[in-house]
Amino acid sequence: MPSILVIDDDASISETLDLYLTEEGYKVRTALTGTDGLNKYVEEPSDVVILDIRLPDVDGFSVLEDLKEENENVKVIMITAFHDMETTINAMKGGAFDYIHKPVNVDELDLAIKKALKSMEMEKKIDGLLMEPSRTFRVGDIIGTGNEMRDIFKTIGTVSQSRTTVLIQGESGTGKELIAKVIHNNTSPDEPFIAVNCSAIVETLLESELFGHEKGSFTGAVSRQLGKFELARYGSVFLDEISEMSVNLQAKLLRVLQEMEFDRVGGKDKIKVNARIMAATNKDLKAMVKDGRFREDLYYRLNIVSITLPPLRSRRQDIPQLIDYLLTKINLDLHKKIIGISDEVMDIFMQYNWPGNVRELENLLVRACVVAKGQVLGVGDFPELAREEAKPAGETSVDLFKSAAPGKFLTLDEVEERYIRKVIKETDKNKGEICEILGVSRPTLERKLEKYGITFERE
Ligand SMILES: Nc1ncnc2c1ncn2[C@@H]1O[C@H](COP(=O)(O)OP(=O)(O)OP(=O)(O)O)[C@@H](O)[C@H]1O
Ligand SMILES: [Mg+2]
Repeated sequence: MPSILVIDDDASISETLDLYLTEEGYKVRTALTGTDGLNKYVEEPSDVVILDIRLPDVDGFSVLEDLKEENENVKVIMITAFHDMETTINAMKGGAFDYIHKPVNVDELDLAIKKALKSMEMEKKIDGLLMEPSRTFRVGDIIGTGNEMRDIFKTIGTVSQSRTTVLIQGESGTGKELIAKVIHNNTSPDEPFIAVNCSAIVETLLESELFGHEKGSFTGAVSRQLGKFELARYGSVFLDEISEMSVNLQAKLLRVLQEMEFDRVGGKDKIKVNARIMAATNKDLKAMVKDGRFREDLYYRLNIVSITLPPLRSRRQDIPQLIDYLLTKINLDLHKKIIGISDEVMDIFMQYNWPGNVRELENLLVRACVVAKGQVLGVGDFPELAREEAKPAGETSVDLFKSAAPGKFLTLDEVEERYIRKVIKETDKNKGEICEILGVSRPTLERKLEKYGITFERE
């Protein structure tokens, strides 16, 4: 039961508040002087203090100061007959939670008390998060609850007992690098984790990045440089965006994987590879193999253990927990005390498609936390959301049903075709998912696709 201490020298007010608040379900104590009030608070702190400014013995402001001294988070609601701006400002500056004028309006007081209690609850929650991160989340944890994620956790456990090659697939921002790091930390935490982005660097540079080079082996090779495979020692080499690797380097990588040794560029001796190799891609490598854009033999070498991360939109149930986790992380980084997001934002987040997955969610939250005024992120803190929210409604009511010729209506078939195309565009082109959204069976979908001449490849 929340407790309230009323400090007011006007006995009739104290009594009325006592009766009223007890009736409302609070545990109430009263004091007629500042000193008595302070003593009662020190004896047993209450959740909320209702404090009159004009008291017979001491000034209400100094009582406020002493209460704050006792507990800086104490929620004090000041009440007074003074209406001027200065008193109000002083009260708020002194750390009062709210300021209410006499005669007291019970609705106003009720609201202030509820707000104070709520704010206290949130502070407790956030303090818990900040002070005991290990009890809730640790930075680097993977958040996920569904079967798919649970299977991934199991796989991580299994591969961490060996040093097999792992291929991690998933759309961008689904946590591929995070998974690689967790595998690494579970296998060889004291050895280096070295990430190489195979798309960022030109081919020859990438080659010497990976394998190192001897001094003078090419123009610009002014000194000997160790390659990532060597630098990683008994740790891990994470080859990100492996699909972007040139065919020539693919061949060299294949040899490394087969023999677990290689030559430094311009060098003579064979160098042994002890590191575990992990590769990641957001492309469909198998399809690339079919098209001849990725070596089949390399694909099978990499794909000894494969982990495929689900997109965020197919595991929406994890969104609330991810938000809690990410906010904890962001609060620590930015020294903020953001407690959560409003229900309205949560509704939008639960509906949204998340093409950029967890990374997109994280970026949205970071930007909102930077600008947010309050402790709870509202729609106003996400300027991008306002646009997102406005878009689908605009599309369905205007674009989808609008014929190019003014005054001409569309046929049902035309609308159906447009709608199917829209759904295809807005999902990740997975036929199962499309059937589910449209509420039709697979053969029906195939028939309709054929009827409208719609073809597409899964992304
Ligand atoms: N399941 C998860 N739990 C907690 N945080 C996650 C999870 N998945 C991703 N993240 C966080 O989201 C961000 C993006 O993850 P990461 O960089 O691992 O994705 P990625 O798949 O490698 O993305 P890209 O393809 O764009 O390189 C990181 O900050 C990561 O910590
Ligand atoms: Mg990545």
